Formats: sequence, structure tokens, C-alpha cells
Amino acid sequence: MIQATLHQLRVFETVARHGSFTRAAEELSITQPTVSAQIKHLTQTIGLPLFEQIGKQLYLTEVGEELLDTCQTIFGQLANFEMMVADLQGAKRGKLRLGVVTTAKYFVPRLLGSFCQQHPDIDVSLQVSNHQKLVQRMLKNQDDFYILSHPPEDIDLVATPFLDNPLVVVANQDHPLANQAQVPLKKLRGEAFIMREPGSGTRRAVQQVFDRHKIIVNVRLEFSSNEAIKQSVMGGLGISVLSLHCLRPDYQQGELTILNVKEFPIPCRWYIVHPSGKQLSVLAEAFLKHLLLESQMISLKQAS
Ligand code: PGA
Repeated sequence: MIQATLHQLRVFETVARHGSFTRAAEELSITQPTVSAQIKHLTQTIGLPLFEQIGKQLYLTEVGEELLDTCQTIFGQLANFEMMVADLQGAKRGKLRLGVVTTAKYFVPRLLGSFCQQHPDIDVSLQVSNHQKLVQRMLKNQDDFYILSHPPEDIDLVATPFLDNPLVVVANQDHPLANQAQVPLKKLRGEAFIMREPGSGTRRAVQQVFDRHKIIVNVRLEFSSNEAIKQSVMGGLGISVLSLHCLRPDYQQGELTILNVKEFPIPCRWYIVHPSGKQLSVLAEAFLKHLLLESQMISLKQAS
């Protein structure tokens, strides 16, 4: 292994991440034959195959998986070292890798914006996916940290709560239940529901409330986009449950209404989450502090 170069390991890590020689060559701005040659040298050095090709799909072998873990640790520590040096020189540099659930995209980019203004030399990767896909990224340790509202209980995590995320029942402003107080949950039984897709954290939280009260709702439409749900509710296709974060502008414009249903809002919170034992980079630590500070201001503004 001592003969493997850092460049070969970088090429290997990029191929493994993309599952493709072509995309790795594109990312690294080198030719595909160069990628193949570097992987060949590395494989010879290690003495065991790192990939296997089945049909068009490239899979990591067991030793390939181990090497990918090792590379991620090495490159993570090198990146952290660079950030630390930049920090000592009085500047923040490097790359911040964040994974957030679909609904968090309504506020995280704004908080990122104020952070990037303070640190103009940083790069950011923001991966947006639903709860289930985000947990898969977490298990593969693909990002610095994650923002979601139901941290999985079966993974050893550090989870820091930082903002409220109430889930409310939304309907078209002309809906017959609009303006009624304390609507019993069972009244929603006959309603056409527009739900997030299976795997969504919002959907799971909603389902838990209905399951607890043994109510089966009529799911008419499923969307993986909160925006598509809002448009469908405005179009009178049905009612839904969404985070208050994704409603504010339209709600204020009066196109949607929040129904006053018992058991709602569902009181969720946003959490900043990372696997316990993960060493956060200098940049990730700084952004985490920024999030906590900014969210205190948001909470104070909402309370006043
Ligand atoms: P979702 O998750 O975007 O997958 O519905 C939302 C959440 O974690 O609150």
C-alpha cells in the first residue's frame, strides 16, 4: 500500500463515488484511459480486484468497500487540515457538505447565504432528498451533517434541536371546513388527501397520528414535491399536511388556509444530526454555530 499514490487513491474514490469511470474522468478533468491506468496500478499494488463489472453496473468488491472507507477518512482529514490552516491564517476555506430533507430547503439556503457572505471563499454542496434517502447518505457518511426533523432512533447519532417545524392541515380557502374551530380528526376520513411519497418524514409523522386514532384516510394523490402538493391544494384537488415552513408566502396571500383540526399542528422540531464519533470539520463546526445562532433570532422574531 505504501506504493499507492494519493492521486491513485483520489481517482479510486471518485470512481467508487460515481460508480463510473467516465464520470470520474469528467470530475477530475482527466481522460478515461488515465483513470483506467491509475485503477489498474492501484489494483496491482493491492493484489486484489477493487471493482467488479456486472452488465453495465460497476460494483465495489469487499476490499474495494474497505478502501473507500479508508480513502474517505484520509481525504476528510486532509481537508480538515487545510481548513484548520486556513482558519489559523484568519480565513475560512474548504467545502461544506450538507444533506437536508426536502422541506428544509425552504429555510436552509437562506441561512447558508448569510454564512457564505461572511466566508466568501468556501464551497458548498447541498444535497436535498427525502427522509429515507437522507438516512442512507448518513449511513454512508457522505456529508458533514444533516438537517431533518425525525432523527432515526436506531442509529448512534448526535442530534441538536434548533427550530420548530409544526405540521399543519392545509386546504383550499373555499374548503367547507375552513373557519371551523376544533374540527375532530375523524371528520377528515372522507376527504381526498394529497400525501408526500413513502419515505418522506412528513408522511410518516402524519401517518402516525392517523394510525394512533385508527383513522384510514383516502390518499388520492402522492407527490414527492411540497410545491406540487401546494399547487394541487390550491387547485382544489384535496387537502394535505405540510410543514408551516413551506406555506408562509402563499398562506399569507390567502390562497391556502390552515384547518383548525384537533391533534394538529403536529409539534415537530428540526435537528442538526451527525453520526456520533464523527469529527466535524472546522467549517462544519462554524456553520453549525451559525445555524444555532440564526435560529435563535428566527424564534425570537416569531415570538414577538
Ligand atoms: P421529508 O422530511 O421532506 O422527507 O418529508 C421532512 C422532515 O424530516 O420533517
